[in-house]
Formats: sequence, structure tokens, C-alpha cells
Amino acid sequence: MDLQSLIRDIPDFPKPGIMFRDITTLLRDPAGLRYTIDTLAEKTESLGAECIVGMESRGFIVGAPLAYKLDVGFIPVRKPGKLPGEVHSIEYELEYGMDCLEVHQDALKPGTRVLIVDDLIATGGTAGATAKLVQQIGCQLVGFGFIIELRDLQGRDRLPDVPIVTLVEY
Ligand code: PRP
Ligand code: HPA
Repeated sequence: MDLQSLIRDIPDFPKPGIMFRDITTLLRDPAGLRYTIDTLAEKTESLGAECIVGMESRGFIVGAPLAYKLDVGFIPVRKPGKLPGEVHSIEYELEYGMDCLEVHQDALKPGTRVLIVDDLIATGGTAGATAKLVQQIGCQLVGFGFIIELRDLQGRDRLPDVPIVTLVEY
């Protein structure tokens, strides 16, 4: 299936000069959505993940159905102040300033085999920070899964050396 044809390009969003790859048109297409999750599952199954970690908010859209398909649990990584229990936090650099991600302390145990999933990798800041968070807890990171990779931004260079599955590249 040609997934790229289901992804809409919106110029100058969120800022002039940026070509935004919009997955809402893919998500609303039943065959496209099914193919996306099924293909990510086929390509990541052999990694033997025991849980999926997905980042707020579009990582939830991809990560939860993938976890269902792989018959493992889903762990949300959220922006600060959203999770009600005790959290582990990690700060990371944005283009301008800092951001922070959090995960529940009791959600991940040392040694757990984790697959990190998001809709898209751009600079790799979000996925790289999530990897650090997961590894600081002592989990075993087995790989990453993304629908889209923006190759020019070289985000994969910021990730640890584990398999990276992507479905569409720009
Ligand atoms: C987008 C996207 C990834 C991240 C990729 O999320 O869903 O999580 O940016 O960029 P990076 O590789 O440069 O870190 P965003 O922060 O826009 O949040 P959202 O999912 O809530 O829209
Ligand atoms: N599309 C969607 N999300 C993004 C993009 C994009 O092109 N760049 C950074 N986050």
C-alpha cells in the first residue's frame, strides 16, 4: 500500500518554511490505519518487546493499537504534570529552550524489553530523551518504531544503536 499518498502535506505549518506531514488523513482511512499498524507489528515482532512505550500525544495513537496487536502492554510517556502517580522525569533540549517527559515510576521494571513508538522522528530529540529515560530505569531498549522519518534532520543519529523501523521516509 502507498502510505505516503495517504499522508497530507501542509506547507508553512506550524511556521513559515516548514512542510508539515499530516497523518490525520492516514488515520481516518480504515485500510491505511490497519495496514500501518499491521506492518509495524510485522516488522517489530521479532524484537521480542515486552511492552510498548509511546510518547504524548501522537505516539499514543500508534503505540496503543500496536501494543494490542503484539499482545503486550502500553506505557504512556507524558508531558510534565499529567501523570497522577510518582514519576521519573527527563529534560531535553528543543530548538529553543527545554522540554521534559515523564513516566510512572512503577510502570517499567529494570530488565524489561521495551520498544519505543511514535508517529514521526524529526530531530530525534523526543525519541532520544525517551530512550534515555527508559535506559536510566534499567530497561532493555530493543528498538524504535515510527510511521514517518524525516531523513534530512538526521534524527536517527541521536538514537542508541538498536533497530529502527520506519514505514515512510521524506
Ligand atoms: C511531534 C511528533 C514527535 C516529535 C518529533 O510531537 O509526534 O513526538 O514531534 O520531533 P523530534 O524528533 O524533533 O523530537 P509534538 O511535540 O509536536 O507533540 P504532539 O504529538 O502532542 O503533537
Ligand atoms: N509533521 C508532523 N509532526 C512533525 C513534523 C512534521 O512534518 N515535524 C516535526 N513534527
